[in-house]
Amino acid sequence: MIVVENLHKHFGGFHAVDGASLTIETGSITGLIGPNGAGKTTLFNVIAGRLPPTSGRVMMDGQDITGLPPHELFHKGLLRTFQIAHEFGSMTVRENLMMVPENQSGETLWNTWFKRGRINAEEARIRDKADEVLEFLTISHLADQKASQISGGQKKLLELGRTMMVDAKIVFLDEVGAGVNRTLLNTIGDAIIRLNKERGYTFCVIEHDMDFIARLCDPVICMAEGKVLAQGTVEEVKNDERVIEAYLGTGLKNKVKAHA
Ligand SMILES: Nc1ncnc2c1ncn2[C@@H]1O[C@H](COP(=O)(O)OP(=O)(O)O)[C@@H](O)[C@H]1O
Ligand SMILES: [Mg+2]
Repeated sequence: MIVVENLHKHFGGFHAVDGASLTIETGSITGLIGPNGAGKTTLFNVIAGRLPPTSGRVMMDGQDITGLPPHELFHKGLLRTFQIAHEFGSMTVRENLMMVPENQSGETLWNTWFKRGRINAEEARIRDKADEVLEFLTISHLADQKASQISGGQKKLLELGRTMMVDAKIVFLDEVGAGVNRTLLNTIGDAIIRLNKERGYTFCVIEHDMDFIARLCDPVICMAEGKVLAQGTVEEVKNDERVIEAYLGTGLKNKVKAHA
């Protein structure tokens, strides 16, 4: 579904993504792992249209999507969530979901004046959809709470929920498990598996929790220093010399830094 070809993203002289090539197969839950600073989030930002690449290409279903803005990718069904959740704190959980669908006819003054009935019908439909999503994610009880008041893990579920308000084809999840307790992490994992199996979502998941990766992902891609080091099953990647070295390498570097 997604083919990344020799992608580079430089910040000044720093090569955050340094010639990465990878493929995400339709219907897969592909894991993306690698030590901090490997360039995973930057790669997501380039694929999802938040950052232009320095060079290289991103293809989706055979079409060149390199550098397309996020809203165009959204219409193609390519969505991403953020390492830090981007909820609207003063709105309720349900309202956060209801904001997602684009082209709501309530947007223009003209429509507000002349198509009141249609807007009400559409709003009711979107509201039903939001409630269905909350039920799917087992957080119906949070519908009327302010988004600022829910836990970090629940915010991650809400992020996932936002991708369900529209017909997503491929969803990029950046550290869905960060700061999330085990129970909630399992709920998130269950939702991802169900969305994959029942609704045909393809996923690319950045996560540090290897149990989570092992449960969900095949294949797993490991990045380090802006490059793809290895791709394979969890077992293959875990036992790959270059991967072990990359993790050890940064561990040592961090130790050196800590002593400096
Ligand atoms: N906007 C930016 N400007 C400069 N350097 C950046 C920027 N974004 C990321 N980097 C650097 O690029 C490297 C890769 O970062 P990132 O993609 O966030 O890695 P990961 O998600 O794998 O931890 C890091 O060293 C980071 O400091
Ligand atoms: Mg990151």
